[in-house]
Formats: sequence, C-alpha cells, structure tokens
Amino acid sequence: MNKKILALLRNATAYVSGEEISRQLDISRSAIWKHVQELRQEGYEIIAVPHLGYELVSIPDQLLPEEISPGLNTKIMGREIYHYDMVPSSMDIAMDLAIKGCKEGVVVFAEGQYKGRGRLSRFWSSPKNKGIYFSLILRPKISPNECPKLTLLSAVAVCQAIRQITGLECFIKWPNDLIIDNKKVGGILTEMNADTDMVRFVVIGIGINVNTSESLLPVKSTSLKEQSGERISRIELAREILKQLEREYILFQKEGFKTIIEKWKKLSATLGHRIRVHFRKEYIEGQALDIDEQGALLLKKDSGHIERITAGDILKVR
Ligand code: BTN
Repeated sequence: MNKKILALLRNATAYVSGEEISRQLDISRSAIWKHVQELRQEGYEIIAVPHLGYELVSIPDQLLPEEISPGLNTKIMGREIYHYDMVPSSMDIAMDLAIKGCKEGVVVFAEGQYKGRGRLSRFWSSPKNKGIYFSLILRPKISPNECPKLTLLSAVAVCQAIRQITGLECFIKWPNDLIIDNKKVGGILTEMNADTDMVRFVVIGIGINVNTSESLLPVKSTSLKEQSGERISRIELAREILKQLEREYILFQKEGFKTIIEKWKKLSATLGHRIRVHFRKEYIEGQALDIDEQGALLLKKDSGHIERITAGDILKVR
C-alpha cells in the first residue's frame, strides 16, 4: 500500500486530498495516515495540510528499487533490484543469488559495506549513503578467458554514465579504474563461476565515490562531489549506469567486442603513455601501446619487445 500511495503522490502536481487517496485506493483516512507515517520513517518527506491533503516534498537519498525503477526502461539490467543497508559485501549476496539460480540482470545495492573488496584482495572503502556500491549478475555465453571483456565493457558503461550525469571528464585507467583528475573515483571487480570452457555466471561489482569526502578515502582517490563541487544524485547516476550497462551488453552480444574496445580506447587514460606495471612479481616499464581483443594491455619495452599484460596495477610515468 505504501508504494501505491507513493505513486499517487509522485504523479500529482499539487496536493492530493485524503478523500481522493481514500477513494482511489479504497482505504480509510486513518490507514492513509499510518502509511504516510511509515513512508516518513523511510525518509520520504511528505507534508500534510488540513483541507488540502498530502504532498511529496522529497525522497530519501537511498538506492531504493522503487526510486531507481521508475524511468529505468531496461529489459535486463535491474529488472529485479535488492537493496540492503549495511552488508559485509554486495558481492557475497549476489554470488549467493546467482548460485540459487536468479535471473541475469539482478542487481544488489548496498548503502554501505563493512568488508567491501577491490581488485587484488584490496579493501574498498564504502562509507554509508555516500557512494554507489552494487553487484550485478550476468549469465553471458562466453568462455572463462573472455571474462575480462565484461570488466572493460562495464568500465566503458560506468565512465559514460559519469560523464552523462556530471559532465566531468572521466577516464579509464587500465584495466578498470575510473579516473578523474588523475585520481581514482571508482572501480570494478569481476568475479565468475565457470566450468572449464563455459561461464556459468559473472558478478560485476561496481563501486563509485559519489558524495564521499576525500578524508574518508584512500590517498589518490576522489569523489564526484569533490570534483564537481556539488552533490550528485546517486539515484540518477545508478539508473544511468544500469542503462549504459544494458546498452553495451546488448551491443557486445550482437556485434562482439570490437565496438566496445573502440569506445574503451577513446576513454583510456593509459594508452600512449609511458607506464610502469607490477606484473608476475616484477616491475616492467614501457609504452602502453594498445589493448588486444581479450582486453590485455600491450606494453612496448625499451628493448622493442612487446609484453602482454593480463593483470596488475599501472603507474603512469609520463
Ligand atoms: C577496484 O577498483 O579494486 C574494484 C572495486 C570494486 C568495489 C565494489 S563496491 C560493490 C562491490 N562489492 C564489493 O565488495 N566490491 C565491489
């Protein structure tokens, strides 16, 4: 019933009278009042004026399915959304759902995480209500060694969404760091469950520092708010990310990886630069030449030898 009342208030241009709500939803005035109180507890600001009725003034700053779904218009991504307050990691919840056989496109949002994890077993700082932290379940028909393609695809989608919503110049640092002004604003973690030659499912974890103050983040990190100087709607950004993820995923299924690689290259903060990378227990330096069709980085060493880097952290030298 709360959802129905919200829908009525959301669609109204002015006050909706108690009488109108009561008539449309066939409930008593006291029941309306009870539901309005519940919605207020959830963070909806609803004013009640005698003789005029109710008006929805503001919605809670929470990544609630009922806030993200309207206007989402996707066929796969986020058709089913789970929302949690504080969890150890959204990855574990998504993994569990996937193992139990949930549909492709299911999304798990967390307002905060105690044990947010990043690439290379690092900790991902996830202060409550500040960032976007979610995990998405996909069931692509690909082999396990193609999995990095989905990470690159996701980086393109998130980077495009950040640009679209904030107007900020966001770039991708290989393989999947989202960078603004040379500082990390977001990252992507991909975990998979596969047979030897076929992926069963992939969980894509996306973390973005949205309204986080830099003091809560590791060094060389930033947030969208710090960069833009204004608060960013996490709901709008989350919705846009899901839309972009769907667009790129459908493109990938129809046309393969080529177009996505082209987009990735245009958004790259890595290619063309001299970099140092820690790979297979050694530091290698050279020119970041290109990425191949598997998403590996091709690094030209001073000797002229081209090294294929499949994992690691890079440092831009110049
Ligand atoms: C990285 O850059 O190292 C990847 C960071 C990925 C963080 C996200 S936040 C949502 C999901 N849950 C996690 O525990 N990690 C990912």
